[in-house]
Amino acid sequence: MDELYLGIETSCDDTSCAIYSPDRGVIVNRTAAQLDHERYGGVVPEIASRSHVKTLLPLYELVMKEAETRLEDLAGIGVTNGPGLTGSLLVGLSFAKALSYGSGVPLVGIHHLEGHILANALNVGFETPAIVLVVSGGHTQLIFTECIGRYRFLGGTRDDAAGEAFDKIGKLLGLPFPGGPALEREARGGRRDAFDFPRGLRRSQECDFSFSGLKTAVRLKVESLGALSPEVVRDVSASAQEAIVDSLVEKSLLAVRMLAPPHGGAESHGCAPARFYIAGGVAANGRLREVMTERLSPEGVTVRWPRTEYCTDNAAMIACAAFHHISSGRRDGLELNTFPRGDLVSWAS
Ligand code: KG4
Ligand code: ZN
Repeated sequence: MDELYLGIETSCDDTSCAIYSPDRGVIVNRTAAQLDHERYGGVVPEIASRSHVKTLLPLYELVMKEAETRLEDLAGIGVTNGPGLTGSLLVGLSFAKALSYGSGVPLVGIHHLEGHILANALNVGFETPAIVLVVSGGHTQLIFTECIGRYRFLGGTRDDAAGEAFDKIGKLLGLPFPGGPALEREARGGRRDAFDFPRGLRRSQECDFSFSGLKTAVRLKVESLGALSPEVVRDVSASAQEAIVDSLVEKSLLAVRMLAPPHGGAESHGCAPARFYIAGGVAANGRLREVMTERLSPEGVTVRWPRTEYCTDNAAMIACAAFHHISSGRRDGLELNTFPRGDLVSWAS
């Protein structure tokens, strides 16, 4: 019989519910974006959690109706329980616990970053071992994925996440929130070499990132330019995007080379992972996809990414992760709690 898994994602400002089938893939994935935050130029935690309270139940009912299924017939429920905004996470977790308690359907808490990694399993066929760059509004991490459930941190940001850099630079330029997609649109008409913005930790031999210097450099440049013409906005966007993409690609290249024999030979089972996946909201960026492919292909590495709707926060990736956990015998009880921060830890033996 077709097994169906429900996913619930409320870690930040998007409310999302989805139904996933290991045989048929994503059956339904519905995400309600909270537009109120645009007015404030960023996510307001109090508004985000109140909005989840209003949206989650009707969204769940819609998804169940569209998937033509009943709660009692589900094989499992997966819910993001961290990292994220505590108030937002609590809404999703309490809801998922109530569903599980009332029906007896197994429940499992999912780490948000594992969800992003497994977004790649929704459409492109996720093959391991692989290196995954998770790059979103809250995270920028390179993770060696030996197999689903076994992860090793290779490097991450020391300050801002790449998506945060896109958003803050977008705000400096007066672009709508979130800044990432808006900045990418502006960048299409601009010159990438108009301004020489810094690439953080360029000379370091670690797979770490830093974007706070870039943000300050853009702020100083924007202040020195005075009134911003549409042309200048396009040029700053293109040059800043290039600096972010360049940093992400350089450190990804370093990770690929670090894991290549003889250095990473033993850990990567005697061969460098020939697969590289991008995940998270910034994986929607066309320039990142283009440059990553250009620079990693000569190393014999294939670069892939999820469909754009599964790059940004969604519950389909959480439902897919729930399938992997629950089919391996993992489940959580009602004592399951949220966590605001924390690395992705391995759970498979
Ligand atoms: O994964 P996500 O939806 O939420 C987090 O887990 O943070 O990522 C949201 C981030 C935002 O910072 C947004 O600006 C960025 O992803 N983003 C993009 C693009 N689309 C979304 N950044 C660059 N280019 C894009 N096309
Ligand atoms: Zn995310």
